[in-house]
Amino acid sequence: MRYFINSTANYHQQDLNSLGWELTVCNSLEPINSPCRKVLASPYSFGQHLYNFLTGIIPLDDIRAVLEVGGGMGYLMRDFLNLNPRLRAKMIDISPYLLAKQKETLQPFEVDFELADILAVPSEALSGFDLAILNENLGDLPTLVTQQGKKNNSDQNIACFGERLEYFNKKYNLPLGLNENEHINIGAIEIVEKLCLAGIKYIYLSEHSCEAVLPEPMKPYVSLQSSGIPEMISLKDHNEFTVKFSYLQKIAEMLHYKTRRGAFADFLPLNLNDKVRTALRLITPFNDEQEIIRQFVYDLYKYEYLILIKGDEK
Ligand SMILES: C[S@@+](CC[C@H](N)C(=O)[O-])C[C@H]1O[C@@H](n2cnc3c(N)ncnc32)[C@H](O)[C@@H]1O
Repeated sequence: MRYFINSTANYHQQDLNSLGWELTVCNSLEPINSPCRKVLASPYSFGQHLYNFLTGIIPLDDIRAVLEVGGGMGYLMRDFLNLNPRLRAKMIDISPYLLAKQKETLQPFEVDFELADILAVPSEALSGFDLAILNENLGDLPTLVTQQGKKNNSDQNIACFGERLEYFNKKYNLPLGLNENEHINIGAIEIVEKLCLAGIKYIYLSEHSCEAVLPEPMKPYVSLQSSGIPEMISLKDHNEFTVKFSYLQKIAEMLHYKTRRGAFADFLPLNLNDKVRTALRLITPFNDEQEIIRQFVYDLYKYEYLILIKGDEK
């Protein structure tokens, strides 16, 4: 089977000079007066919500060394460091522009920064961390895109990926490459294996999911389809893919991690008041705020998180 490799590395290394084109859930909750904060049960920032949620699942008070990969503007880590000043943080990012933004945001704290593609960072360099955070960025990592019948010009790369697919299929009993219509989140698969093999005790991942399921009570309000196979999302100057979390979960479980998986709405609970219901029920929104609310609520269910806890940890 032929694949074309979708990579966002050049875009992130050379072209990216704003995250405004790609309003992440984290960034949309950043302004104190954001309409997105107002539709939640409590009006906190993303990092505050996530920290409070993780407190009930992992012993954050005992954690010291935390790594965030692809931290965007650095807001999530700022919230974590404010809530837990004993954390020692490191940020790794492929984008010089965003790493500079992280340095500005995290300037009051003592933080290490590294400009690197996480896929090129050796496993040994990751083994000292207690917690790794990858928020809303697995879909940026390379994806093998099916090219049924089409010729491409990178046969050597494809051959090397063929070996990797075989390796993952054998080791984790996966069906990668068997469905000729299915794109493969090869970068996300590589990184989950790398973080687990590095022995990091706690790992938090999140991204748009191709397996997201809308809870029954939300069905009258949100239209959400999940194809079950990675879907292309076209963004400014690059494409990303939704993530098939079940494969990542299986790899982690086979590497003796306990897993917990769900939608962002689990830790960003919605206040489904009349204003929100009205915005969601409209066929065409009347104003910008209603449009923002509709997109935000959709994202609360389209994004999944996956928390991995190393087998011998509480
Ligand atoms: C969509 S943004 C998410 C930013 C932030 N985590 C948030 O939720 O707002 C993706 C982030 O991942 C980074 N990134 C993408 N590919 C990467 C790679 N291969 N290695 C390290 N960082 C990467 C980008 O530069 C950016 O900071």
